Amino acid sequence: MSNNTLQHLAIIMDGNGRWANKRSLNRTKGHEKGAETIREITTYCAEHTSIETATFYTFSTENWTPPKVEVEFLMRLLDRYLKNELTTYQKHGICFKAIGNINAFSKSLQKRIKETELLTKNNTNLTQILALNYSGRSEITTAVNKLISKGKKSITEEEISASLQTPYTDIDLLIRTSGEERISNFLLWQLSYSEFYFSPTLWPDFTAKELDNIIKDFEQRTRRFGDA
Ligand code: IPE
Ligand code: IPE
Ligand code: MG
Repeated sequence: MSNNTLQHLAIIMDGNGRWANKRSLNRTKGHEKGAETIREITTYCAEHTSIETATFYTFSTENWTPPKVEVEFLMRLLDRYLKNELTTYQKHGICFKAIGNINAFSKSLQKRIKETELLTKNNTNLTQILALNYSGRSEITTAVNKLISKGKKSITEEEISASLQTPYTDIDLLIRTSGEERISNFLLWQLSYSEFYFSPTLWPDFTAKELDNIIKDFEQRTRRFGDA
C-alpha cells in the first residue's frame, strides 16, 4: 500500500460566483465567504506537519474581464485579507508569498503585498503562496526570457525550474473545487506529475474536514513518475 507524503498542495478555488447566485446574493458575497475559506484551509495546512507549501489560484490574468466593480472589489478584498491575516500568519508561523504580475495592481496594494512578504519571511511552518494576476504560460515565458537575457543559447529543464517565480518544488496534489475539471492556465510546469482531485463543492463551502478526507485519498494513491 502506498503512503505518499504531501509537501506541496495547490488549489484552484472556484465557484464563489455560483455560491452567491444560488443564494440570490451579489457575487462579491461569494468572494468574501471564499476569503474565509482560504483562512480555514491555510490554518489547517500550517498545522499539518508534512505540508510545506500551499499555493492558491486567487486571480488569473483572464480575471480582469468580469465587471470592473467586481475586479475592484477583489482588489480591496485582497488588501483587507492581507491586513487582517497578519496575526494569523504570525500566530501559525506562515510565510506569505505572491506570484504573478503584481505590477498591474495599484501602488498601495503592491506595497501591502511586499510588506506582508517581508514581515512573514522568517516563518517556517508553511509557505502560503497566492497566485495573483497569474498565468502559467507567462511564468514559463518570463523564465525563458530571463535565461536568454543572460546570454544562454541552449536551456535545460533544471534552468527553467530554477528561473520560475514560484519557489520551485513539484506539486504533489492539485485540488479544483466547483466540479470544473480543467487547469485554466495554473502552474503548468510544476503540475507535470501531480495527482488531481476534482471536488463538486463550491469554494465557499469547502472545509478543512473535506481537505482532510482528500489528503487521505491522496496518501493511498500509487504515484509512478513514469516507472513501469
Ligand atoms: C472563484 O470564483 C474565482 C476567484 C477567486 C476570482 P469564480 O468567480 O470563478 O466563481 P464562479 O466560477 O463564477 O462560480
Ligand atoms: C480560474 O478560475 C482562476 C481562479 C480560480 C482564480 P476561473 O473560474 O476564472 O476559470 P475558468 O474561466 O472557469 O476556466
Ligand atoms: Mg470560476
